[in-house]
Amino acid sequence: MDKKIIFFTGSSSGIGWELLKKLLQEKHFLILPIRNYQQKEHLKELVKIYKDNIEVIEMDLGNLNSLTNQNIWHRIKQYPRIDILINNAGIYTHTKHLQNGIELQWLVNYIAPAYLSLQLVDLLSKSNSPLVLFVSSRMHYMAKINFEDLQYSKHYSGQLAYANSKFAITSFSLYFAERFKNIRSNSCHPGVYSTGITRDLPFLIKFLWNTFIAGPKGGSEVLYQLLFNPEFNQQTGKYFDKLKISQAHKDCYNKEIQQKLLDFLEQATGIFI
Ligand SMILES: NC(=O)c1ccc[n+]([C@@H]2O[C@H](COP(=O)([O-])OP(=O)(O)OC[C@H]3O[C@@H](n4cnc5c(N)ncnc54)[C@H](OP(=O)(O)O)[C@@H]3O)[C@@H](O)[C@H]2O)c1
Repeated sequence: MDKKIIFFTGSSSGIGWELLKKLLQEKHFLILPIRNYQQKEHLKELVKIYKDNIEVIEMDLGNLNSLTNQNIWHRIKQYPRIDILINNAGIYTHTKHLQNGIELQWLVNYIAPAYLSLQLVDLLSKSNSPLVLFVSSRMHYMAKINFEDLQYSKHYSGQLAYANSKFAITSFSLYFAERFKNIRSNSCHPGVYSTGITRDLPFLIKFLWNTFIAGPKGGSEVLYQLLFNPEFNQQTGKYFDKLKISQAHKDCYNKEIQQKLLDFLEQATGIFI
C-alpha cells in the first residue's frame, strides 16, 4: 500500500484513536494537531514507538489564536504535500461555552475543519490523489440555523448547536468538493459509539450510553473504508451514512446557505474565500 502523509484531527480519543493505531501499523506518516499534548500519556507512549511516523502539533481547535497561529502554519507548510486530511475532531456539549466570542461547537465542529481544509489546499494539491474526509453526524438533519443569532444569545440548546455545527460542516464539504475539483471531499456519519463525545452528557444518559452502546472500533473501520477502499476512490461531493451514499439535509446543497456559512467562517477567521 502507498505510504500517505495524513493530517488527522481528533486522534487522541474514541474513533480517532482506534484509527490512528491502524494507520501507524500501516506505516503512514501522521501529522496530528493535539491540544494539551503533555497531559496525554497514552499518545506520548505511541509517539515513542512510532517517532519516525508522527509529528504532533500543539493546536487547540477550539481557540482561534491557536488555530490561526502563524508559527504553526509556517511549520506545517514545510511539508512536501498532504495526501489525506481527516477532519475527525468534534465535541458535543450541553452547556454554552464561548471562545473568541464564538460558541464552542461552531468553532470545533465547523470553523476549525473548514479553516484547516482551506489552509491545506496548496499542500493537498501537490498529492497525486488528495482526499478530505469530514466526520459529520446524522444529527445534522436536526439543524435549524438562525443566521440572525449565530451565538445563541437568546436561547441555548447544546443538541441544536451540535446539529447546526454538523450541518455546517456537511454543507462545507459539498462546497469544497465543487470549488476544488482536484481534491476529493466527502462527509460521513460514522455510526453511534461509546466514546469521549459523551463526556458532557448528564450522568444517567452517559451511563446508559456507555453501558449499551459499542466502543469506537466500528467507527474507525467506517472511516478506514471510506479512505482506503478502492470501491470509494472515485467518490467526491458525497455524504455517507456509514458506508452508504446518502442524501444530506436538502439545505446543505443550498448555495445561499453555503454562502452565509462561508461568510461566518470568513468573519471568524479572516480567511479569504
Ligand atoms: N461517537 C458517536 O456516536 C458519534 C456519532 C456521530 C458522529 N461522531 C463524530 O465522530 C467524531 C469523533 O468523535 P468521537 O465519538 O470519537 O469522540 P471523542 O472520543 O470525544 O473524540 C473527539 C476527538 O476530538 C478532539 N477534540 C475535541 N476538541 C478539540 C479541540 N478543541 N482541539 C483539538 N482536538 C479536539 C478530542 O481531543 P481530546 O482528547 O483533547 O479531547 C478527541 O481526540 C466527532 O466529530 C463526532 O462528532 C461521533
